[in-house]
Amino acid sequence: MKILAIESSCDKTSVSIIEDGEKEISTVVLSQMDTHASYGGVVPEIASRMHIENITLVIEECLTKANMTMNDIDAVAVTYGPGLIGSLLIGVEAAKTLALIHNKPLIPVHHIAGHIYANNLVKRLEFPLLALIVSGGHTDIVLMEKDYSFKRIGGTLDDAVGECYDKVARVLNIPYPGGPLVDKYAHEGSDTYDLPLPLNDDSYSFSFSGIKSAVINLAHNEEQRGNEIRVKDLACSFQNRVVEILTKKTMKALKEYNVKNLIVAGGVAANKGLRERLEVLCNENDINLTVPVIKYCTDNAAMIGAAAYFAYKNGAIADTSLTAKATDTLK
Ligand code: KG4
Ligand code: ZN
Repeated sequence: MKILAIESSCDKTSVSIIEDGEKEISTVVLSQMDTHASYGGVVPEIASRMHIENITLVIEECLTKANMTMNDIDAVAVTYGPGLIGSLLIGVEAAKTLALIHNKPLIPVHHIAGHIYANNLVKRLEFPLLALIVSGGHTDIVLMEKDYSFKRIGGTLDDAVGECYDKVARVLNIPYPGGPLVDKYAHEGSDTYDLPLPLNDDSYSFSFSGIKSAVINLAHNEEQRGNEIRVKDLACSFQNRVVEILTKKTMKALKEYNVKNLIVAGGVAANKGLRERLEVLCNENDINLTVPVIKYCTDNAAMIGAAAYFAYKNGAIADTSLTAKATDTLK
């Protein structure tokens, strides 16, 4: 089954054709990052305007790259939420139009299910598994006992981990999106700043607002005293605390739920510090670890096409009344 998938929930206009949820035929990702970088973050109005300008071009380019027409496509899939409402709407309307004109089934996909299924493009998911979801909008631990079945066992009480990276980056004068550069600097610095370990308790809840405030206060205090901030050391200390708490709670959940498969999903799955630490811990504890290829950690339509196949098999099908949802829980 060949699915043409559309993703436009934030600042990437992306279209992909995926076969049977695991084979990538072609993908196009048009990033708006350079435009938003000058504002220090994604500007929703600009994002939706750019999606409108580009969506048909990206669809055409993806089909051309695959040497296919809509006749070769069996279904159309789209991220319906969560995300920026104006951005989501462009993808949803485009998908509805394509499905209607070409008389194809329309498959609605939850954005986070997409991030999870980015791993299915690496290796067929094995169940039961735990998914550690770490993105700009989400930090969750999810238990999956079978395809397209999601049980949230924990998550953040405040900021998402990617959001926290971006805010810390901002105070360190690192351009948006800060995550990748903070990660790079963390590897070049030393852990010499005394930062708190965020919400170090026995629960599966995370809280990143405390460490974010600690970094912001530290930077402001040093500035007021006329002291220079050792940016790389601060990045390293921050990343070590974040990685420690994410991995500690994930390993505890794997043990408690007696699960041997771990997947990581979302933009922060690209984090080198997190990947390295999980590799060591999973090796030591006999856990099968799967991480997406770096380019499919951040938003893309390949992951939506992969998830769509399993959503469809699970009965997810929409008609032209499908609407975009800015917020929606994964279920
Ligand atoms: O999944 P994503 O593309 O968008 C959402 O659905 O939220 O994730 C974007 C987030 C941003 O906060 C970005 O800073 C972060 O992922 N990110 C990273 C890295 N690469 C991207 N954070 C830490 N280390 C990285 N290497
Ligand atoms: Zn995302």
